[in-house]
Amino acid sequence: MRPGDLSRFKQSGRAITVLTAWDSLSASLVQEAGADVVLVGDSLAMVVLGHATTLPVTLEQMLLHSQAVCRGLMGPISEQPLVVVDLPFLSYQCGADRAVAAAGTLLKQSGAAAVKLEGAEPEVLTVIDRLVRMGIPVMGHLGLTPQAVHRLGYRRQAQDPNSQDKLKRQALALEAAGCCSLVLEHIPTNLASELQQLLSIAVIGIGAGDGCDGQVRVTADLLGLTAKQPPFSPALIPGRQLCLEALRGWVSEQRQQAATPTSTSAPQAPGC
Ligand code: KIV
Repeated sequence: MRPGDLSRFKQSGRAITVLTAWDSLSASLVQEAGADVVLVGDSLAMVVLGHATTLPVTLEQMLLHSQAVCRGLMGPISEQPLVVVDLPFLSYQCGADRAVAAAGTLLKQSGAAAVKLEGAEPEVLTVIDRLVRMGIPVMGHLGLTPQAVHRLGYRRQAQDPNSQDKLKRQALALEAAGCCSLVLEHIPTNLASELQQLLSIAVIGIGAGDGCDGQVRVTADLLGLTAKQPPFSPALIPGRQLCLEALRGWVSEQRQQAATPTSTSAPQAPGC
């Protein structure tokens, strides 16, 4: 799977599936489930590293987890899902040179094939243009952009006509800058459907309705593992509860076995 396949899938009407992974185990699950794209999302800052927002995750941490994800994928590269890595906060906000170095490091040292970054401010568009010209495919991300949490919060975005017009202009600018696809997070369904029609690049939604070319989900949310479930991304199974029941069962089984020692047990050696 290559970045260019995303537009091909859109043209042929084949739904695109994107799931996040953060290590080899989750990557192998996502691949075996048949997802087209594995996203090493910076949501790992919250899901895996225990931070309150995505801001603290570093480039080094994203690289470490991307390497683990790529190691978890099986078979020839041409048959593996596309690996996209989030550029973490401050790795692309300080100019195109630093962004190329950050994105290049991720691609060079992990085996990922594309990066994702948030927003469409003029500075971000300049960065995207440079990355694309340097041969680094870019996935855009608009709507709820968690790296802007201190400005936007986690609420639904583009609720009024002005902000909807702005988002449409930004989406078109991202396409013109060379993005290979666009994630739309937590925006009104009709706006996402309109953008799916308007853009020739693939539109991938989360909390943006069914009218997109594909869907992306945080795997831990889908599996019901995260303690705080986003309202727009319901769990498929009560994973946390199922895991807890299994683990609690094992713990109590061990305690019960320990509580019935056999009378023939050997005396303990001194010092043990
Ligand atoms: O970091 C992430 O997991 C993401 C998805 C929610 C799209 O950006």
